[in-house]
Amino acid sequence: MDVISVIRTKRDRGELSDEQIDWVIDAYTRGAVADEQMSALAMAILLNGMNRGEIARWTAAMIASGERMDFSSLSRPTSDKHSTGGVGDKITLPLAPLVAACGAAVPQLSGRGLGHTGGTLDKLESIPGWKALLSNEEMLSVLDGVGSVICAAGDGLAPADKKLYALRDVTGTVEAIPLIASSIMSKKIAEGTGSLVLDVKVGTGAFMKNLEDARELASTMVGLGTDHGVRTVALLTDMATPLGLTAGNALEVRESVEVLAGGGPSDVVELTLALAREMLDAAGLRDVDPAKALADGSAMDVWRRMISAQGGDPDATLPVARETHVVTAPSSGVLTRLDAYDVGVAAWRLGAGRARKEDVVQAGAGVELHAKPGAQVRAGEPLMTLHTDTPERFEYALQAVQGSFDIAPEGTEFTATPIVLDR
Ligand code: URA
Repeated sequence: MDVISVIRTKRDRGELSDEQIDWVIDAYTRGAVADEQMSALAMAILLNGMNRGEIARWTAAMIASGERMDFSSLSRPTSDKHSTGGVGDKITLPLAPLVAACGAAVPQLSGRGLGHTGGTLDKLESIPGWKALLSNEEMLSVLDGVGSVICAAGDGLAPADKKLYALRDVTGTVEAIPLIASSIMSKKIAEGTGSLVLDVKVGTGAFMKNLEDARELASTMVGLGTDHGVRTVALLTDMATPLGLTAGNALEVRESVEVLAGGGPSDVVELTLALAREMLDAAGLRDVDPAKALADGSAMDVWRRMISAQGGDPDATLPVARETHVVTAPSSGVLTRLDAYDVGVAAWRLGAGRARKEDVVQAGAGVELHAKPGAQVRAGEPLMTLHTDTPERFEYALQAVQGSFDIAPEGTEFTATPIVLDR
């Protein structure tokens, strides 16, 4: 087998054979196929697509590139959630302990933010002492003892994806449905969860900008999970507007703790409960009510134990940025649009995200929203507060939020977009 014939097959809109796929994934993982050759193949896949058979084989080859975890020793059913990424998407933080409080084991392997979307690990690392890197044995021990664990995926899990994702990130080849679906599902299947709920985001702040593409991504991933024996469900959820009232690291931890304490913004609570119900249903735990576990404090108890088990102090004061800048409403009326992508870019520019993998994020940086679409606003009143340790970043962040909102005259009718768009 030679790599140039594999690239030519896809360049010329052909179908890759099982042998070609198995060989190219294995050779790339071993370093026998160069980055420039794999990036040419990734671009050919982005432009010419793959059929369901090719995607299934590609996913299986990526799973086979590394180890598979085994949760069969646990007494509880496992259930996991994966979001395709958005702005203000802190849902994993209250969701994992909530679902654990209701009787499932939640092995949540999470990632770091890159670009305008935040990363769960970056958010949790703003809690003093908390560590994201656990060995497989440590992960299993937290999962068994607490019921939920949120940590980084080990190096042994789908190493082909680790290499390929980093390459796609710098070659403009992230946004290919076959590559996104196989990337996400290879990790989730190798992780060994029994059931999986996918939160496929749709809108300006997401990879999928329209419902049609999101539906295709969701059905491809559900098909892959089901074929590998994982009970898989997908919700399509809105990402045209940021989730909740914060985008940033410590800012989002604070908001998540408010949700666990029985408060928090209504959209975050609604989506957390919708996903919890799906996860519990998929795990066969149909008689428990997650709203009760939020109200009676049992989800908060699991959160505190989970943070402590990973070295964090759940009572520690969260970092706060040194400088703030308030953006005020230029006119009075009804806020009709608040763009998720623009707010995400502003949070990123303030220091909450990174431009290169090796960049260090600021724990306190981000954007705090004072109004969401549908709210009445008054000229001169705060719309959002920008937070950073490095005030020279304000100007660049302000450019991002300048066109991020619309205010219509008072009395304008406003119809809210539902959070869950489809299942
Ligand atoms: N998240 C992943 O893990 N992989 C992708 O390709 C996109 C989002």
